[in-house]
Amino acid sequence: MENQANNTEKRKVVFSGIQPSGNITLGNYIGALRNFSLFDDADCLYCMADLHTLTVRQNPADLRKRTASLAAIYVACGLDPDKNIIYCQSHVPAHAELAWILNCFTYMGELSRMTQFKDKSQKHADNINAGLFTYPVLMASDILLYQTNLVPVGGDQKQHVEICRDIAQRFNSLYGDVFTIPDPYIPKATAKIMSLSEPTKKMSKSDPEDTFIAVLDKPDDIRRKLKRAVTDSDGEIRYDPENKPGVSNLLTILSVLKKQSMEEAVSSLSGLGYGALKEAVTEAVIAELSPIQERYNAIISDKEGLNSMLKRNAERAQYLAQKTLRKVYKKVGLYQF
Ligand code: TYM
Repeated sequence: MENQANNTEKRKVVFSGIQPSGNITLGNYIGALRNFSLFDDADCLYCMADLHTLTVRQNPADLRKRTASLAAIYVACGLDPDKNIIYCQSHVPAHAELAWILNCFTYMGELSRMTQFKDKSQKHADNINAGLFTYPVLMASDILLYQTNLVPVGGDQKQHVEICRDIAQRFNSLYGDVFTIPDPYIPKATAKIMSLSEPTKKMSKSDPEDTFIAVLDKPDDIRRKLKRAVTDSDGEIRYDPENKPGVSNLLTILSVLKKQSMEEAVSSLSGLGYGALKEAVTEAVIAELSPIQERYNAIISDKEGLNSMLKRNAERAQYLAQKTLRKVYKKVGLYQF
């Protein structure tokens, strides 16, 4: 006879985070944020990873402002804060607490292989701090605290999800099944949206303003930035990321936002030039971002509402996180009453 338990299959848990370390970009939106609302039938948690931002010097007032702004962006992008747990990482102390434990189960060797560590230590050569080095351990703690099944991220975070899996497997092999082993969710076509000025490089919120479109950019800024986006000199609209990175990047943005296949996007521009391509991308980006910005403005102007949402959701997250943390403390032998 069918087991009753089959009817009450456990809901999947989805976790992701974004650092409030700069203006949220179209790369963040297309690579990650936009996918966060795909998991209707799962329990989803999305945090503002404010502790992670401290690995690079931040202006305190700006960081506070950007954290609230990111919370409002999450909601404006369609994440219902009663269904999804949207919260601030530093409001749930269990993240930092688990990170300490997992630091003791992570090797220097594996951390020194992280490409993001290598990149960031080059970029911030005067501040290669221990937090930058153990960054992936805090990220693993974020994910593992909630027994996460799926982690929607862009391609640049794949290595961090992999080390998270390694840490979890190592811990489980010593102490039994404590952590769920998470899988990354990285759609190939949108894994890496490129910089507008250097299309062989990732679009990044820590680069200069003109290299990216921000989710909160005004239509005039979007138009100006896209007009100046680097293409190439052969004039043909064709998807070929290796030889035509700038044009291919614009085509990716267009096809994703217009919900077209790449073939449809290319053929909609047949016989036209780069000016028309840029115009089409501009229209699509403005059409996508305008309603988000409208909702954003309403949410951010209700500070009290935003704060009470964040408080409520931090409590929900803390409750779930404590369950895992207690189990971990017990397993490793920390004395408990
Ligand atoms: P962050 O803040 O750098 O970026 C947020 C998300 O956006 C994705 N992304 C991109 N995707 C496509 N093209 C781009 N140009 C692009 N730029 C950024 C990132 O892959 C990411 O998914 N360490 C994380 C934040 C974090 C986290 C977590 C993520 C902290 N804890 C736990 C997942 C799970 C970060 O710095 O993302």
